[in-house]
Amino acid sequence: MNIATAGSSLELPPFYHPVYFERLASTNDEAKHRAEEGTPEGLLIVAAEQTQGRGRRGRGWASPPGNLYCSLLLRPRVPPAEAALAGFCAALAIAESVGHFARRPEVRLKWPNDVLVAGAKVSGILLEASSSGGAAVDWLVIGMGVNLANKPEGVGIAVTCLAEHCPAPTATDFLSSLAPNLLAWLERLRAEGFAPVRGAWLAAAQGLGERVQARLPAETINGIFRELDDRGGLIMDLDGGGRRVIQSGEVFFPPADLSGSACC
Ligand code: BTN
Repeated sequence: MNIATAGSSLELPPFYHPVYFERLASTNDEAKHRAEEGTPEGLLIVAAEQTQGRGRRGRGWASPPGNLYCSLLLRPRVPPAEAALAGFCAALAIAESVGHFARRPEVRLKWPNDVLVAGAKVSGILLEASSSGGAAVDWLVIGMGVNLANKPEGVGIAVTCLAEHCPAPTATDFLSSLAPNLLAWLERLRAEGFAPVRGAWLAAAQGLGERVQARLPAETINGIFRELDDRGGLIMDLDGGGRRVIQSGEVFFPPADLSGSACC
């Protein structure tokens, strides 16, 4: 598949049906809208900039020109909890492409699906899905933002962009690398289940076997990050004894993260 983007041409595997915008409120919103209209999976909404980019937990996502903003529509025939495992595929694929351009070993993954370079966040993933009563989701949208030329200021956590580590690739060049990586991981998840994805994710995980703090909606807990369970939950051995599986929340690493009040 080939589409003309701003000044260059994007080559993608045939699974993808890209639609390019110079500006959108949010690529996730556009993908969700088209999902509700019945658009088949493979739709890939790409925007050069977003005016109302959205992050996890109701936060915004600064989206000036120069970075990658895209959302992929999937229609997996699996329940919501299983569909959410695609987020680990997206994080792995982004990490591979970040490593390809930055050529640095310090590309790590932070639960649930952030990518870090030298400890600083370089990308974010926003998963959104809809179910209408059946066992399987109707659709899943994987929204991906990668800081290429720019990084946001004043967000309270360590953030970076590829321009700080290498000549920044264009969004088109980054997406040309990312798209086949993502498709390969999604196909592996579908064919082999979560085990190989989980193994690869854990091999690149930041803080595995170390102390972490998990900030949950109603409490904050501290302990050792031991494992991922087979649903992608983060398994912690708590300081006070006992084991917990975290399904949603934010993870922080000591020492700097534990002293801060902002979260990522
Ligand atoms: C996070 O909070 O870490 C997730 C950020 C996800 C941002 C991407 S940019 C493309 C897509 N469109 C959006 O509005 N959000 C996602």
